[in-house]
Amino acid sequence: MTQPSYLAKKYEFHPAGAGDSRSPCPVLNALANHGLIARDGRNITADQLKDALKHIGVGIDIRLALVKAAYAVHDETSHRGLRNPGQVNNSGIAVLNLDQTGRPHAVEHDVSLSREDRALGDCINPHPGLIEGFLGYPQKDSFSLSHLGGLRKKRLQEQKAKNKDLNFSYRTHIVACAEAAILQGVFGEGIFYGLPVKYAKAVFQEERLPYNEGWKPRWTPLMIPEMIMLILAVLYYASPF
Ligand code: HEM
Repeated sequence: MTQPSYLAKKYEFHPAGAGDSRSPCPVLNALANHGLIARDGRNITADQLKDALKHIGVGIDIRLALVKAAYAVHDETSHRGLRNPGQVNNSGIAVLNLDQTGRPHAVEHDVSLSREDRALGDCINPHPGLIEGFLGYPQKDSFSLSHLGGLRKKRLQEQKAKNKDLNFSYRTHIVACAEAAILQGVFGEGIFYGLPVKYAKAVFQEERLPYNEGWKPRWTPLMIPEMIMLILAVLYYASPF
């Protein structure tokens, strides 16, 4: 019998249980599944999320930018921010639940690598068929930046053909390429060494940090200048226009 998640040792992997709040982001879910943020995915403070991102090698500048944007109160006009007005814990500190990262028209978008488009099905939970396609894409044991960009391009072609209500601006294309870029930055073995498929498999199929596969958080944190280079490379290979 699986032990209840509240009994799992600190940082031990334990998959989400029924009723846990989860995100369309496989990495945020993995952080919760390891107890680096609340395992039930609820009432997470900005400091807790920043500490968890630090733990996996995300640099201070990227941590601050991502968390600041996420913890802003949602604005229906600009679609920025993910929190509800007045959403604080008992100590008055701003908190966020993981399912709020899937707010419509905020960060969540169509043409994901592992989730279906909102108009076509479940845009929050992983789609096993899409993940199979993603993991098989390089036809070798690691993804290069050209694979990640090529995959983004392929997914866009697929969803253009399938989804007559597709909602995917160039700005969203950049965000989607930035997601692929940060994946490479955190789980890749350096720009020239690619991202092992076995690491992506753990992250996407099990929403687990790939420690068992040999991954270790990077020694030098991923900072904005490197992130910009990674985004530009993915954008180059993904260019649909
Ligand atoms: C404050 C931190 C973060 C927030 C709020 C966040 C939020 C999100 C959201 C809402 C999505 C869904 C986009 C979609 O519809 O496909 C997403 C996707 C993604 N995120 Fe995160 N994320 C964060 C940090 C990270 C980090 C640190 C990584 C990598 C180490 C990461 C990797 C990804 C990837 C690869 C996807 C694309 C999944 C797919 O296309 O199926 N995220 N993120």
